Amino acid sequence: MLFEDVFRKKRIKFKISVKNEGYLHGSHGLLKQALINLVKNSFEATEKGEVILSADKKNKKWIIEVKDTGKGMDEREVKDIFYKGFSTKKYGTGVGLLWVKKIVDAHKGKIEIKSKKGKGTVVKIYLPEKL
Ligand SMILES: Nc1ncnc2c1ncn2[C@@H]1O[C@H](COP(=O)(O)OP(=O)(O)OP(=O)(O)O)[C@@H](O)[C@H]1O
Ligand SMILES: [Mg+2]
Repeated sequence: MLFEDVFRKKRIKFKISVKNEGYLHGSHGLLKQALINLVKNSFEATEKGEVILSADKKNKKWIIEVKDTGKGMDEREVKDIFYKGFSTKKYGTGVGLLWVKKIVDAHKGKIEIKSKKGKGTVVKIYLPEKL
């Protein structure tokens, strides 16, 4: 099924909240790829609900959060994502999140995933203002 066909049937409220402004040293292209991967995962996991992308800065650290009220994951799935990488999607590669982790590591950041099966997922990325 095409990307467009999948999304046509969905009812998702997409919110963006930027609570702070400022600089972030790093690769624009790579960070963009990381965010696209996370937002894409949230849209794919959600049929009807919300996807919220937010950015805030505290103590010279950016906290970027992608949150959804989608299908969620159990503990095992969350652990396996970074350990071996996997996909539950017909055309998924299962490398999306591994790539996100690589990008975050390259920016001396941290990634944290919290998820509840049937409830939703929150992915938080902590990135230092300066490399
Ligand atoms: N927001 C999310 N909600 C629920 N499950 C998720 C979420 N993000 C990732 N997953 C689960 O983790 C798996 C791995 O995600 P990843 O982005 O690495 O690969 P993919 O999305 O399957 O493939 P690709 O990114 O290449 O399209 C997904 O197949 C899905 O099962
Ligand atoms: Mg993905």
